[in-house]
Amino acid sequence: MRVAILGFGTVGQGVYETLRSHRAHMSNLLGEELEVVGILIQDGSKEREIDASTLVTTNYEKLLQLQVDVVIEAIVGQQPAYHYLVQAIKSGAHVVTANKVMFAHYGQSLLNLAAQHNVQVGYEATTAGGTPIIRTLQHLLKVNQVSKLEAILNGTSNYMLTEMAVHHLSFEEALQQAQQKGYAELDPSNDINGDDAFYKAMILSRLAFGMQPNWNDVYKEGIERITLADIQQEAKRGRAIKHVATIEIREDIPRVSVQPVFLDESHPLYRVDGVNNAITIHTDLLDNITITGPGAGKLPTASAIVEDLVHCFKQQHVVPTMV
Ligand SMILES: NC(=O)c1ccc[n+]([C@@H]2O[C@H](COP(=O)([O-])OP(=O)(O)OC[C@H]3O[C@@H](n4cnc5c(N)ncnc54)[C@H](OP(=O)(O)O)[C@@H]3O)[C@@H](O)[C@H]2O)c1
Repeated sequence: MRVAILGFGTVGQGVYETLRSHRAHMSNLLGEELEVVGILIQDGSKEREIDASTLVTTNYEKLLQLQVDVVIEAIVGQQPAYHYLVQAIKSGAHVVTANKVMFAHYGQSLLNLAAQHNVQVGYEATTAGGTPIIRTLQHLLKVNQVSKLEAILNGTSNYMLTEMAVHHLSFEEALQQAQQKGYAELDPSNDINGDDAFYKAMILSRLAFGMQPNWNDVYKEGIERITLADIQQEAKRGRAIKHVATIEIREDIPRVSVQPVFLDESHPLYRVDGVNNAITIHTDLLDNITITGPGAGKLPTASAIVEDLVHCFKQQHVVPTMV
């Protein structure tokens, strides 16, 4: 299997390292050798530890000429990521993406195009990092009717709220600590203003209910206005403040909100602390289940991507044994 990776930042490097460290296992699983044939980067002047047999290039056309079977996309923003994946699908390659902003905007159109070209699209890493919510929902949706999802989708916000509650840090101190530990970007706006959770919620809405709400109808609020005093006041009432995306369907219309909420200890998300993400899925047959796990980071995100890669390959090569 010939693989190309677009982007060599936190996620791209994590994928590259994982494919190398798990090479023998992957080859056994796939029944063929797996090779990273090319990596697309933007800045050709950076030092990178990449095997000399792998083409490292800023030229996407050159990469596609390598007869790639799977394109893994780990760059930032809507374009050129979407354009690159369209070209990859048209060339007959499966695609796997971690790019939530691009996928929230263009996911459906990529899935449609992939169906026309008989290739797969993996997007587990776009939502909740290493926590397998996409695969879980795809599995559940075969029989269960999902009525609602409640989710902590931003690890940075959850880390900050936890630090404020447990160690009595102010908002500013919690943010500084998140940055020192590498959980928050230098510009943390998308994490704390709710945008990051919003994009993930849009991806989940489309998967769970086949559509997204009108984006202007979604109530979105980040954690910027939460103070230590708010958290302490709620704690006295036995409640925790969590940043939660609620995605449900009523009268055949998906309704989504992304905002801080007060949870009491009976709620499954009450005890989800630190950088973890968690999703509670309400269904007709199961009542509710909650999955929790790392929402971001180099190896958890790489894990989601590599699992997708194997899934793409197996879906394509599956031989039906029963009718
Ligand atoms: N970090 C996480 O934990 C995490 C988790 C889940 C999903 N994601 C998503 O994964 C994607 C990558 O995140 P990251 O944290 O790895 O970002 P990052 O560390 O900033 O790395 C981005 C990489 O993309 C490359 N790049 C950017 N624009 C490009 C372009 N036009 N053409 C070619 N290469 C380009 C950069 O190239 P240079 O190296 O040459 O500058 C860099 O290597 C994002 O969409 C993010 O939302 C990240």
